Amino acid sequence: MTGKILLTYATMSGSTAEVADAIARKIQESGAEVTVRPMTDVTDFSGYDAVILGGPMVVGWHRGAMKFVARHAAALSKVPVACFITSIELTNTGEDAIGGVPLTIDPNLGGPPKNPGKLSFKEKQTCLDAYVSPILKKASGVKPVSIGLFGGKLDYSVLNPLAWLFVRFIIRGKAGDYRNWDAINAWAASVGDQLLSGA
Ligand SMILES: Cc1cc2nc3c(=O)[nH]c(=O)nc-3n(C[C@H](O)[C@H](O)[C@H](O)COP(=O)(O)O)c2cc1C
Repeated sequence: MTGKILLTYATMSGSTAEVADAIARKIQESGAEVTVRPMTDVTDFSGYDAVILGGPMVVGWHRGAMKFVARHAAALSKVPVACFITSIELTNTGEDAIGGVPLTIDPNLGGPPKNPGKLSFKEKQTCLDAYVSPILKKASGVKPVSIGLFGGKLDYSVLNPLAWLFVRFIIRGKAGDYRNWDAINAWAASVGDQLLSGA
């Protein structure tokens, strides 16, 4: 497989950067060139055949990632794009695609709603549609070939006091490293091919 991919990510505490590196390493095994950069360092996509965008859920997809896709929507609509999301919670409402975009879901992340016919307030905030649709809406005209949803990492010791309070008392997140490297690598192995099949 030949071609150049830009993998650009947003992060709050750094764990999504490690996911980005793992995805890049996996894709590179099949011969493609992958450049990994934080979104804050990226101004354009010239020289790349495809783009991967990644970021954590931080009450919605990372604010920097949302701004990035809105700012670059026109350019991103002209190249093959894939996205990934890291989070510690997910209400898996069972969709395998949203807005025509196929989803790959880490089997260890979250679980089904208690009562599929009537989601609780928290389940509505953490369901697939609540995570994915706002991104597709922001990235107007961009149709990712795939969106991967993976467990992230929650480490209270690296959070600023405000984030600590929010996660501890509002999200009530349990500290831990929930990254499922098998699921991440499996997605990476297939998404590289999907992105570069026309390159
Ligand atoms: C302030 C804050 C808000 C968060 N909000 C959510 C959320 O709404 N839903 C969720 O599943 N995870 C949430 N998380 C967990 C993060 O998505 C998870 O820890 C992620 O792996 C962090 O990635 P990072 O290390 O790249 O910042 C939140 C974490 C923080 C610090």
